Amino acid sequence: MSANPSTLSRQGWDRWNLGTEFGIDDSDGDYQSLRAAYGDLPEDPYALGSGRYRRYARGVFLPWSKEFFWMPATESQAREGMNGYYQGDNNPEYVNVTRNLPAISDEVCNNKLLLDIIQFDFSQTRWSEDDAVWPLYVGVHLIKLHIEEEGREAVSSPNELHQDGEPYVFAHLIYRDNAEGGANLIATPEYRGKQPEDVPPADRLADFQMEQSLEAYAITDHLVSHYVGPIRKGAADRPGERAILLADWVPMRHRI
Ligand SMILES: [Fe+2]
Repeated sequence: MSANPSTLSRQGWDRWNLGTEFGIDDSDGDYQSLRAAYGDLPEDPYALGSGRYRRYARGVFLPWSKEFFWMPATESQAREGMNGYYQGDNNPEYVNVTRNLPAISDEVCNNKLLLDIIQFDFSQTRWSEDDAVWPLYVGVHLIKLHIEEEGREAVSSPNELHQDGEPYVFAHLIYRDNAEGGANLIATPEYRGKQPEDVPPADRLADFQMEQSLEAYAITDHLVSHYVGPIRKGAADRPGERAILLADWVPMRHRI
């Protein structure tokens, strides 16, 4: 694919700490505003009562100039404050459905840390000679799992090992507060549709949990399957929360 592969493009997954990469910590102003955006996430309209809250925005990234632009919503979506999210048949819970998800505000879209994260993510991707001369579609999700009750679990979608269909998917931990669980498992592709306990040790490529703000991982979709475990409330007397920023990257093709 590329004469200069990244660990991500070669082995199918990688992990980073962007706090370290960017030389910032939790006191950074852009981090604080991005974090505050998770206080304003509506419940996932497709999973009411699940403890999942989210917003979504889409952009285009030009690989040759590294310019990034947010895309508008359709007129009808804009009237409702929504953006459309389509995964084809890759999410078994939403096959061939365009999900209209609440949009991310312009203010949050212009957050410098968010834009730096998008540039960092691009720097880890590798594209074929053909894809590198077309725009890339970037889907950005702010997703929070929130649990108020002891003994309840909030799950990611889909709740099984899966592949997303987008060639690269990045997950950035924005914060975790009084939350347990949410372990990540990365396995070989044949475990798509299976549960983590179905994967023998030899096929478990990575088992880890993100704990620090701005920890991140990514997967090269066709090389691996992946899973995120449910989260539960921790011991403290307040809700448990885990806030993630997802960025998925897809080459654009012309339709003729
Ligand atoms: Fe996924």
